[in-house]
Amino acid sequence: MKKTTAAITAVGGYVPEFVLSNKVLETMVDTNDEWITTRTGIKERRILKEENAGTSYMAIKAAEDLLQKRGIEASEIDFVLVATATPDMPVASTAAYVASEIGAVNAFAYDLQAACSSFLYGMSTAASYIESGRYKKVLVIGADKMSSIIDYTDRTTCIIFGDGAGAVLFEPNEEGLGLQDEYLRSDGIGRQFLKIDAGGSILPASEETVKNKQHFVYQDGKSVFKFAVSNMADVSALIMERNNLTKDDVQWLAPHQANKRIIDATANRMGLEAEKVLMNIHRYGNTTSATLPLLLYDYEKQLKKGDNIIFAAFGGGFTWGSIYLKWAYNS
Ligand code: UT7
Repeated sequence: MKKTTAAITAVGGYVPEFVLSNKVLETMVDTNDEWITTRTGIKERRILKEENAGTSYMAIKAAEDLLQKRGIEASEIDFVLVATATPDMPVASTAAYVASEIGAVNAFAYDLQAACSSFLYGMSTAASYIESGRYKKVLVIGADKMSSIIDYTDRTTCIIFGDGAGAVLFEPNEEGLGLQDEYLRSDGIGRQFLKIDAGGSILPASEETVKNKQHFVYQDGKSVFKFAVSNMADVSALIMERNNLTKDDVQWLAPHQANKRIIDATANRMGLEAEKVLMNIHRYGNTTSATLPLLLYDYEKQLKKGDNIIFAAFGGGFTWGSIYLKWAYNS
């Protein structure tokens, strides 16, 4: 019997209208366009300004865009996974709310949190459900409102992050297309280098934690950078080797958009030319869980049925990994 694989059959996306450029950041903190561009590759990022709107606002828009493009009813969806590091609320599931709002009345839903690797891990989860044969339509949304956890007086973090959402639909495939292999890793050593100290069970919110700005992202950028460069390159090279892929067999690298220098190092290690590297960090910055689906959203028209894509991510925790996927359609 032929093995059922899990293929991406549709993509949707949403970024807020408000653009925060390097030039504007120059007026907010002690930084400059040249430093940001050469150190990160970022030129501008989007910020969600709508009042009382959280991550779900963007996730819903990305999902609705996907449903409209794929031409299916939300009621056909079996499972909605929202990959996010910034849920609407600490307790009520963002995914459950999103599923109800889009009309996925027959679906179950939950959130997945693995910092910048949330979407990569989510792809693995979705594919496993499809491969098991139990579910036929799995919606994976990567969405983050990073502006809700960033201190806009801290120049080491506020220049990096942006808001956005992307969505993909996984469905069974009988032609051998879709997810081929994955290599997922984590290491708790990372917790000291990239974290939000307060608001969790170790240090609940208090007047003190607010005063000390402990609800914002703290990052030891240099240390994270070192781990990210070596690990993202290692797993990308490993998954190529394990699947006997040469650089000519790989049509695209879809890397997490944290820093252009990390992306370049990964592409170099794989021997890939710049034209094969999906990149939009200059427009959106690091949108955490949304980087990978937003790449697919921006490049969808260039992706061809049968193309070999290597996804790679690295994030807080630490969490990281790579996925080898064969693209399943021409758009
Ligand atoms: O997505 C999750 C995983 N996260 C990552 O992968 C991020 C990894 N880290 C990075 O991308 C980089 O480390 C950063 C972009 C965060 C920082 O770049 P860097 O080249 O590692 O800079 P640095 O932290 O070593 O700082 C170099 C200098 C310092 O000044 P001194 O001490 O050399 O005088 C900083 O104070 O640059 C200074 N600096 C800035 N200058 C202008 C730090 N931030 C800024 C800034 N503008 N925004």
